[in-house]
Amino acid sequence: MYSDSNHTIDVRVRDLISRMTLEEKIGQLNQMPAIEADFDKLVELAAAGKIGSLVLAWTPWAGAGGERQNLNVAENNRIQRAAVEGSRLGIPLILGRDVVHGFRTIFPIPLGQAASWDPELVEEAATIAAREAASAGVHWTFAPMVDIARDPRWGRVAEGYGEDPCLCGALAAASVRGFQGEDLSRPDRIGACLKHMIGYGAVEGGRDYNVAEISQHTLLNVYAAPFRKGINAGAVSVMAAFNEIDGEPCSGSRSILTGLLRGELGFDGFVVSDWASVDELREHGVAENRRAAARIAFDAGLDMEMSSGCYAEHLQSLVENGDISIDQIDRAVANILRVKFRLGLFENPYADPELSSRTFLLPEHRSCARKLAARSLVLLKNEDHVLPISPKARVAIIGPLAKAQRELMGTWTVDGFGDETVSIVDGFRNAGVDIVHVDSPVDARLTDVDVIVVALGEDHLRSGENASIAALDLPAGQLDLLEKLEALGKPVVAVVCAGRPLILTELTLHASAALYAWHPGIEGGNAIADVVRGIVNPSGKLPVTLPRHVGQVPIHYARKNTGRPADGGYTDIPSTPLYAFGYGLSYTTFVYSDFEVSRHSITVSDTVEVSALVTNAGDIPGDEVVQCYIRDFVSQRTRPVRELAGFERITLEVGESKRVMFRLGAQELGYWDHCGKLIVEPGRFGVWIAPDSQFDGREVGGEFEVLAAHID
Ligand code: GLC
Repeated sequence: MYSDSNHTIDVRVRDLISRMTLEEKIGQLNQMPAIEADFDKLVELAAAGKIGSLVLAWTPWAGAGGERQNLNVAENNRIQRAAVEGSRLGIPLILGRDVVHGFRTIFPIPLGQAASWDPELVEEAATIAAREAASAGVHWTFAPMVDIARDPRWGRVAEGYGEDPCLCGALAAASVRGFQGEDLSRPDRIGACLKHMIGYGAVEGGRDYNVAEISQHTLLNVYAAPFRKGINAGAVSVMAAFNEIDGEPCSGSRSILTGLLRGELGFDGFVVSDWASVDELREHGVAENRRAAARIAFDAGLDMEMSSGCYAEHLQSLVENGDISIDQIDRAVANILRVKFRLGLFENPYADPELSSRTFLLPEHRSCARKLAARSLVLLKNEDHVLPISPKARVAIIGPLAKAQRELMGTWTVDGFGDETVSIVDGFRNAGVDIVHVDSPVDARLTDVDVIVVALGEDHLRSGENASIAALDLPAGQLDLLEKLEALGKPVVAVVCAGRPLILTELTLHASAALYAWHPGIEGGNAIADVVRGIVNPSGKLPVTLPRHVGQVPIHYARKNTGRPADGGYTDIPSTPLYAFGYGLSYTTFVYSDFEVSRHSITVSDTVEVSALVTNAGDIPGDEVVQCYIRDFVSQRTRPVRELAGFERITLEVGESKRVMFRLGAQELGYWDHCGKLIVEPGRFGVWIAPDSQFDGREVGGEFEVLAAHID
């Protein structure tokens, strides 16, 4: 019955579980790394029903710049065949891989994608990533990473969507839709995995794997927000985090993996551990041995163990001793089998080795990567309208990242190839710009150019997993180079490629213009040239705050008012950031006016519409990311002085105006309390429609009141 796809998935799951032995059930909870040396052993284990999944990597550093870990489609098929045709019940393996920001077509790092504030385009990129990954036999990706990050010292800030719950939540949902589509059984879709549950981005000191001290209120209203959106978008899996919260390692925390994740957030897929995080419960000091680690993690609600083998070793005796019930085992197995059936693995378990070559790097994939990269670029400074450059300009390109290729792909790029990436120099050459690439600031050819583009920033190894840094400065020598170039008396355009916010306080003093490119992916060079030439009018906005000094960290825009808002700042530097969340310049100018609010008072169950007119007052067309912020002035729980409640990217021709409207209700106005209820408190709310979060007078706004009682 379970092999008959005419039955419902629930019927097939129940039938299959009723036929499985305890050993076969435990096999489904065991995920092994696809280590090349172990392929024969994996074939045997699969045939014996001892494994249910492979993580297609053989170290946890697959994305962190370690040795390349190529997929072996033929071998993966061989192991799969052993499971499907060799084992007693023929249950297929689910094959997981870190497809984080593209598979072979590498898109900007997720933090860069977040700077586009373009959920549709992010969804399109995930759709392309799924198409390429699925063609190579990948069934499931360990993405999107939805960890809110407000500490740029943490290397994995590169891998998420930034500091804000609203933006991160919208992009988490977009990525899940892109990976999974409407029908997970389609051959070009893969399962998504929201990670890492939870609060990993708040590790103390930005030091990876560290403790995260987070209040329950902040956990529910900041760090859980993107998980809520990703779960509502239908994500089939969640990965437990390495860090601890409140004295409990997440991988062993029932309050997180069951109480919060399933009880409050309503998750009904399966939970997978992060690399060896079950075994690491011993290192955390909560498990005496691997047997205890297996029991604690499984009791917490962790369904599938990645790589460390504690479940395979100890679950059977834990059940036989009554420490774990067979019902618990059946629930975990059912969570996993449901996804395998939804993926259509029982019908189509094998990859077609010929298919991927026809799917990789299609022109439309590259053009999407180029468009997303261009939209992710944030114009921070443009003194005297140095940019865009004239079509006839003679341009010098210099700097450590001028010819960089692998670096531009960024961290967590497992299946891309550096030599397929367009460097900055090649991007300008492809555009037919009259350029000269020089290596030295004293090169005589610099005297006869019109503008100097200096490519600065960090390489892909300086961000990502286990790549936290204490000083957020540009790498050594880069400021010195910039100052030498400034001394030549030519306009200097600094293009900064980075996996995180860097401290640009000095840079902005010496560069005429500054463009933040993140790690822009395989089409980075073309996208940068498109923006510098004005083919694309920059529209990127910061998804993270750019600090003035590392001493300000952690720093973000959604700060609390405190009891002494006028005091408490630093005495040695301003407390404001160098560049604010949501900030980004355009080559044109947008004016915000005519704020309107549909009602001046609503009940807690109503919605209110707020809108403003946005006008392109400049002389070239452009996109603007219009942002809506709210503030609840008086609430039982303190609320930030402003919270992003919505955003919309619009395109405006020269002189064109559009009225942009946001509908605000409980989801936007409320906060989650400790009982899992969404609370909208009566009282005065401020609301603004703005170009960014700094509120420098360009925003427009007003107030409305939420009434406890119903109004007639
Ligand atoms: C790594 C990462 C996780 C990744 C997993 C598999 O340690 O923490 O994000 O998906 O291992 O590679």
